[in-house]
Amino acid sequence: MSLDAFINSLPKAELHLHIEGSLEPELMFELARRNKVEIPFDSVEAVRAAYDFSNLQDFLDIYYAGANVLQTEQDFHDLAYAYFQRAAADRVRHAEIFFDPQTHTDRGIPFQVVADGLLSGMKAAEADLDVSSQLILCFLRHLDEDAAFATLRKAEPWLDRIRGVGLDSSEVGHPPSKFKSVFAAAGSMGLKRVAHAGEEGPPEYVWEALDLLKIDRMDHGNRSMEDPKLVERLAKEGMTLTVCPLSNHKLCVVDDLKDHPVPEMLRQGLHVTLNSDDPAYFGGYVNENWRQLTAAVGLTREQLIGLAKNSFEGSFLTSAEKAAYI
Ligand code: ADE
Ligand code: ZN
Repeated sequence: MSLDAFINSLPKAELHLHIEGSLEPELMFELARRNKVEIPFDSVEAVRAAYDFSNLQDFLDIYYAGANVLQTEQDFHDLAYAYFQRAAADRVRHAEIFFDPQTHTDRGIPFQVVADGLLSGMKAAEADLDVSSQLILCFLRHLDEDAAFATLRKAEPWLDRIRGVGLDSSEVGHPPSKFKSVFAAAGSMGLKRVAHAGEEGPPEYVWEALDLLKIDRMDHGNRSMEDPKLVERLAKEGMTLTVCPLSNHKLCVVDDLKDHPVPEMLRQGLHVTLNSDDPAYFGGYVNENWRQLTAAVGLTREQLIGLAKNSFEGSFLTSAEKAAYI
């Protein structure tokens, strides 16, 4: 079996996926037409051509603009269902997906529309495609902690269907410490905690995510590699890192996929998983991330099996549910 076929055949979980980042240009156009929303592009090709980023903020500006076409519960359902169709084709059996409610509530879309639309897409995907999923509510870190608290309050009626909270958007200048209280509140409500850290931000932000936000899982974590004591701690604690190779390349976190830190992370005993982040913007869904990274750095079949196992082990499934996959 070729290495590509081997990657395709491996059952896997996806643990770092922004559902708004799975909005393909074709669906963006369809929703723009359906909802009579103007978008600043003439064609699908023009949208794709605009996806040329030199850093995280470049991308975020376009990503938040793209989300404007999402208006109704049906739109959020369709967005989620389309992602799960792509994921199922990559043998994703379980996905823990991020959503950014503030991106929508701040432009007048009720929290209920976003949450119920996504949950309905997730339920349909489980029934039709046999992909299970959980929802993680991300706070936008460029906004203040009061806004994060207001979002958590809006989410209260849905907390039995939301597995955890996360932290995303512009990292540099917005350290995890800014969200210490809201993460403590979320933890006391029984929610899991994850955070983007060390994507563009320094190792200090990773320490803060561990010590102040008390995260259960780390999103990205690349810049942890600059601090040997931090790497030792992450390895000792068995912290799962949700790494996103094509995202790192597209956002210039790494200049060349050949220089991606995954092989060194594995050598140092880190619990790495491979994920797609915002696949519609970064050139590929999860298997494309696995394939391109493998081609660039030469991962072995044994390492690939380990990465697949890590994806289930690092998930928020119960031990019994994990045992069915591993
Ligand atoms: N929101 C969507 N994708 C993101 C990323 N890679 N980093 C931070 N915020 C994001
Ligand atoms: Zn992300």
